[in-house]
Amino acid sequence: MAILIDGKAAAERLRAEIRAATSDLTPRLGRPPGLAAVLVGDNAASRVYVRNKVRACEECGILSRKIELPASASQQELEQLVDSLNEDNAVDGVLVQLPLPPHLNEQAILRRISPAKDVDGFHPLNAGKLLLGEDCFEPCTPAGVMVLMDRYGIEIKGRHAVVLGRSNIVGKPMAMMLLRRSATVTICHSATNNLPGVVRLGDIVVAAVGRARLVQGDWLKPGAAVIDVGINRLPDGALCGDVDFDSAKEIAGAITPVPGGVGPMTIAMLLSNTLKSARLRGGQ
Ligand code: GUN
Repeated sequence: MAILIDGKAAAERLRAEIRAATSDLTPRLGRPPGLAAVLVGDNAASRVYVRNKVRACEECGILSRKIELPASASQQELEQLVDSLNEDNAVDGVLVQLPLPPHLNEQAILRRISPAKDVDGFHPLNAGKLLLGEDCFEPCTPAGVMVLMDRYGIEIKGRHAVVLGRSNIVGKPMAMMLLRRSATVTICHSATNNLPGVVRLGDIVVAAVGRARLVQGDWLKPGAAVIDVGINRLPDGALCGDVDFDSAKEIAGAITPVPGGVGPMTIAMLLSNTLKSARLRGGQ
C-alpha cells in the first residue's frame, strides 16, 4: 500500500511560511504584496479557481484584486486592462485565468503581461528561461509538484520520470523541471504507442492529460511515485484524477489523491511567486 502524499497538509505548511515571509516583507516594502486576478466570462470552474486564489491571498497577507470582464469583452479591452495592471506599482502579480472565451487570442494576452509580473510563468520569456535553466517565474502546478516531491523525500536525480501530457501549462514545464534536476525524462502524449509499457519505465509518473482514471495500477512499476495532476468530473459529479487511485495505490510507493494532492499546491505556488515578485520588484 502506497504512502499517501498529502498535498493539502503540505500546502497549509507552505502557506504558513508564506504568511510569515509576507508579514516580514510588508513593512519593508511599505505595502503588502499584490496580486491581480482577471476573470473573463462565466466559466464555472474558472470562477471557483479565482475565488480560491483570492481567498488564499487574504489568508497570507497578500492584497488581491479580482477583476471581472464580461464574456463579450474585446481583445483591446482585455489588453488595456493588462497594460494598466502592468503599470500599477501596487500590483506584483498579474494572472489572467484560462481558458479565455474563444474569440480572444490567448497567446497575445499572455505575451502582454509584463514578464516581471508573470506569476503564472506563461509568458514566452519565462518559458524560455525555464528551458535554459535560468531563474524565472515557474508555472505553478509543476512547481508545486516539485515542492511536494521534495517534501516527501522523493529522489529525482538519475531516476526515470514519465510525464503524461505535453501542455504548455503542465506537461512541458514539468518535463523541464525534472530534467533540470537530472531525471531521465520521457514525455507521453495522445500519439504515444504502447502507453502502459512506457509508463511502466517510470520511477516517477506525472499524469496530466485530463482523462479520468486513464493510468491503471498494472501500468506502474512497483514502488513508483505517482503524481496525479488530473481534475476530472465524473457523470455523478464526483472529482477524480487521471490515475485509477484504487488500483494504483496497491502498486505505487507513493501517490497523490484527487482532490487533496497537487491542487492545493498550485495555489500555494501562486502565492509564493507573488511574494517572489514583490521581493524582486521592491529590491528586497
Ligand atoms: N487555467 C488552468 N490552470 C491555470 C493556471 O494555472 N493559471 C491560469 N491563469 N489559468 C489556468
